Formats: sequence, C-alpha cells, structure tokens
Amino acid sequence: MSFNIAIDGPAGAGKSTIAKKIASELGFIYVDTGAMYRAMGLFFLKNKADVNNERQISDLAEKAEVTLKYENGTQHVFLNGEDVSGLIRTQQAADMASATSRYMAVRSRLTSTQKRIAAENDVVMDGRDIGTAVLPHAQLKIYLTASVERRAERRYGELMMKGEKDLDIEQIASEIAARDHQDMTRKIAPLCRAEDAILVDSSDMTIDEVTAVIRKLYEERV
Ligand code: DC
Repeated sequence: MSFNIAIDGPAGAGKSTIAKKIASELGFIYVDTGAMYRAMGLFFLKNKADVNNERQISDLAEKAEVTLKYENGTQHVFLNGEDVSGLIRTQQAADMASATSRYMAVRSRLTSTQKRIAAENDVVMDGRDIGTAVLPHAQLKIYLTASVERRAERRYGELMMKGEKDLDIEQIASEIAARDHQDMTRKIAPLCRAEDAILVDSSDMTIDEVTAVIRKLYEERV
C-alpha cells in the first residue's frame, strides 16, 4: 500500500516548498494540486468564461484534460497536451483557479486524477482539501499555516526576486486574505483543517525547521 502525506493550508504558507523538499528527501512523488486548478483556470481564461456561469464552466471543464508528468522529479502540468507549467504562475490564473474551484464539475474532474496517483504511488500532495476530501485516509496529515502578514512578506520577497517593481505589500496582503476567504467559505470541500491533521504554524519557522517537524512525524508512522 502506498504512503500518503497530505499537506493543506492557505496560499503562501510554504506548502509547495516544504512538500517538494520532503518528497525529494523521501523519494516520494510531489503532487501540487493547486497547479491542476490553475491549469483549469487558464483554460477558462483562454475561453473568456464567465466565473459566475456554472453551466458554462462545467461544460468547459469537460473539455479540459489536465494531466501531470514528471521529469527528473519535477512536476509538469499539461492542459490538453500542452505543457502549461510556466503559464500558470500568475495572479490572474490563481484568482481564476480560486473562483472556479467552488464548482463540483471542476473539483470532481481533478480529484479523481489525484486519488488515482495517490493510490498508485507514495506521495506528498498539497492543496486545500487533501486531508479532508481527496485522501481522507492519508497516513499523515498536516495543516500548514502562517499569519497573513508573514505570508505577504514572503510573497513580496519572491516577487522582488523575480524583478517585479512597484510592489505594494498591503495590496499583496489583501489579495492573500481575499483568496483565503474564498477558499475557506465555498460550499464544496472548503479549506479547513481535518480533525486528524497536525497544525504547523510556520510564521516564525525556517523551511528546514518545518521540514524537520514533518519528517519526524513521518518517521513515527513508518
Ligand atoms: O495552491 P495554489 O495557490 O496554487 O491554488 C490555486 C487555487 O486553486 C486556490 O486558491 C484554490 C484552488 N485549489 C483548490 O480548490 N483545491 C486544491 N486542492 C488546490 C487548490
């Protein structure tokens, strides 16, 4: 039986950095489910879909084939055969992903793929509903969070490194808070801590400290 580690939490808590590191240390596959919602989001953007039109979004979701491939341990996300890994890291794609992830047609299409990958492989999977809905039987569940201020500071640093100018940390913080609210209040599979998930607040922790905590929890379970 495969070993599944589920990491959920709000945007910018460090899920992907930590999940990637743990997966590489353990030789597990890292599954970034947010990338799949972003790829769907990109498809809706390309088709100029109306986020409030559930019928239209559901029909389009049927036409979007989102698949994952791994090259040297790195996840690549494909949308109808095209590698869109480089195109999904925009605020627009994140907002579209968040707005449309509330629809059942979008969620069920992606969660079936996620469940299959986790059944066939040892995985570290991160997202919003992994411990609650996708992998309720995961052997280890983590709810990774950090204060909005710390998450905004980290995002600000990342964008600075990418060379972006005219950054406004207050605006970044309010975008993060808006996405938290949207992800936590939707009706289907909202972001929340599973009863059996271990809470890790990374506000005042380094990446290595968070990784060490999760590694220790893993060692206790094998
Ligand atoms: O993790 P991320 O920021 O790349 O995710 C983008 C959006 O996708 C997020 O705001 C909500 C949605 N999402 C989701 O609903 N369920 C998941 N398991 C992962 C992401």
